[in-house]
Amino acid sequence: MANFDQADLQNLLDHGTVAPMVDQVLAHIGKTPLDLIDFAQNHDILVEAHSPFGHGDLVSNSDLQAIAGTYGVTVPQLAVRYLLQLGLAPLPKATSADHMRSNAAIDFVISDADMAKLKAWTGFHYSDETSVFPVYQK
Ligand SMILES: NC(=O)c1ccc[n+]([C@@H]2O[C@H](COP(=O)([O-])OP(=O)(O)OC[C@H]3O[C@@H](n4cnc5c(N)ncnc54)[C@H](OP(=O)(O)O)[C@@H]3O)[C@@H](O)[C@H]2O)c1
Repeated sequence: MANFDQADLQNLLDHGTVAPMVDQVLAHIGKTPLDLIDFAQNHDILVEAHSPFGHGDLVSNSDLQAIAGTYGVTVPQLAVRYLLQLGLAPLPKATSADHMRSNAAIDFVISDADMAKLKAWTGFHYSDETSVFPVYQK
């Protein structure tokens, strides 16, 4: 299932015959549904994070480039690692083979202090090109 909120999941848990196992939602740095993630994880539901780079809009963000730079990584690497450390399954898309290879090279650990900073970060806005799609207006 995709983009189910907490009430949808609770409804399925209360009235369905099979408990939901996976919920695919929009989740990335600057747009992380922490309450939903907490609820899902407390009910053994895996959260898949679609659009982990904000449909590409996160990649050139200067705040995130500064944090990524302290680890010697790119913003996409930081973005994938952030989601993994939250216990999510990131679903990055890349058409470039170099991007795919780079996005999988995430053998580093984001500190607790930086995770807290990233979870609270509010500096993200979708570009006009991205925000025409309804899924990015939530
Ligand atoms: N369930 C839903 O409602 C829903 C909605 C939207 C999307 N999705 C799924 O989520 C997945 C990904 O979402 P998305 O396509 O919206 O966005 P995304 O993965 O957040 O971003 C993709 C963009 O990031 C760029 N990129 C990737 N790696 C990069 C790198 N290392 N350096 C620079 N740029 C990089 C890609 O460029 P290149 O192509 O040039 O590599 C592409 O433009 C897809 O599988 C999609 O099907 C699900």
